[in-house]
This record gives sequence, structure tokens and C-alpha cells, in this order.
Amino acid sequence: MSRVIETLREEHRNLARLLDALDHQIEVFAEAVRPDYDVVRGITEYFLDYPDRCHHPKENAVFEVLKDRHSDKTTGLVDMMREHRTLHDDAVRFREVINVLLNDTDVARSTIVGAAGRFIDDQRHHMRMEEDFFFPAAERILSLDEWSEIEFRITDARDPLFGDADEDRFARLRERLLTWEREFRIA
Ligand SMILES: [Fe+2]
Ligand SMILES: [Fe+2]
Repeated sequence: MSRVIETLREEHRNLARLLDALDHQIEVFAEAVRPDYDVVRGITEYFLDYPDRCHHPKENAVFEVLKDRHSDKTTGLVDMMREHRTLHDDAVRFREVINVLLNDTDVARSTIVGAAGRFIDDQRHHMRMEEDFFFPAAERILSLDEWSEIEFRITDARDPLFGDADEDRFARLRERLLTWEREFRIA
């Protein structure tokens, strides 16, 4: 497997962990129990920051080379750039919904739960589409030289939550996520 695809799949696993944690917090909220607001806030901020800065640029670089050099073999492929712009807009809208929740503004619980469900589903759907179609197509079509070129193009932006250069602003989310995973998944 190409190193770039290996990294992207690992990033998907981390994003999936966050979506699972968010899903759990929304289930708690749906049952009229107080969710962990730090986790909800942290995940929302992370989805506004990290994918656009670190994850999507790598996928866009792969997509550009595929489209530029192999347009004959990629006719059915979804436009990744457009998908990523849509995901960014979704994350902005989702933050507005979560701000309503965090500010205790009077809003129907079902509105928040519905918006969160759609956000989570769309993110998961996008990653599944990439893993089922985009990554395999890239691995099948691109040459070793093209992978080297892609690696050269990618500037390795730091992951503020899971990377080596983890940032303090996500420290609480990191800590809560690990605790939650220990309690609910490994127990
Ligand atoms: Fe993507
Ligand atoms: Fe992705």
C-alpha cells in the first residue's frame, strides 16, 4: 500500500473514533441527560480545523494527479475538491448548531439531535466512499513516480489532536476520548 494511502487510512481511523464519541454524546443528550460539553465542543472545533489543514490537502493532491494524468480512467470518480468544500460548509453549519446547544439557547432537543445525526452520517459516508472507491482507484492507477511526486507536494501539516505535536487546546478532548474508549470499548 502506498505510504500516502496508509496515512490517509490511519487518519480516517482517528476521525472515526471522534465520530463514535460524538455519536455517543448525542445519544446521551437525546435521552435528556447532560452530555460532556468539552467533548462535543472539542470535536466540533477539531472538524473545523484539522481536515482542511491536514487531511483534505493530501487527498486533494492525490485527486489532482489522478484527474490531470488519468482522466480516461477516472470518469466515475466523485469530485473530491467539491466534496471537501461541502464538508467544510457542513462543519461550519454544525458549529452553529452546537453553539446553540452550548449557549443553552432555547431550541428543540430533536433539532440538535437531527443536525448532529446528519453531520455524523455525512462524514462517515464520505470516508466510506473514499475507502471503497477513491483510495483503491488511486492505488490501481498511480505509478511509483506519481506517488513520489504526491509525497513531495504534500506539506505535512500537524495533527493537533493525534499527532506528535499535540496542542494544549485539545488536551482535554484527548484525555476524555481516551477515558471514554477505555470505559466503553475495551472494557
Ligand atoms: Fe476526503
Ligand atoms: Fe478522507
